[in-house]
Amino acid sequence: MTKILILNGPNLNMLGTREPEIYGHQTLGDIEALCAKKAKPLGFDIDFRQSNHEGELVTWIQDARESVRGVIINAAAYTHTSVAIHDALKLLDCPIIEVHLSNPKKREEFRHFSYIESVATAVIAGHGAVGYEMALEELEKVLR
Ligand code: DQA
Repeated sequence: MTKILILNGPNLNMLGTREPEIYGHQTLGDIEALCAKKAKPLGFDIDFRQSNHEGELVTWIQDARESVRGVIINAAAYTHTSVAIHDALKLLDCPIIEVHLSNPKKREEFRHFSYIESVATAVIAGHGAVGYEMALEELEKVLR
């Protein structure tokens, strides 16, 4: 089994009730279940996590250095602010897929810049929860 880390940033634990007109009605638990189902036939063993704390996300990325073959990250609001997450991702040699439920480029201007984009192998945005499944498919292609 190929180990894949799926990281979710702040406020994504509130999915389902948080601005459903933007982020949809699925909870983060629903998305985790979707990912687990998609991952199995691809031969992926997923570690799905969420944190509201920047430093915790940084530590998890550092810890993934030796142990995972790919990372999928929805850094949420930290996408637009975190040099620390950018720097941590640069420590990795494996492919990194940036995911967003919405398309931040089509929203407020403060969401247009991403600190993740320049270190990501691919960016998937605006496809809702399906974007996580697309990210797993993309990783499978890249790692094949
Ligand atoms: C998000 C987009 C970000 O701009 C926002 O801060 C989020 C969620 C998305 O998945 O669409 O929290 O990453």
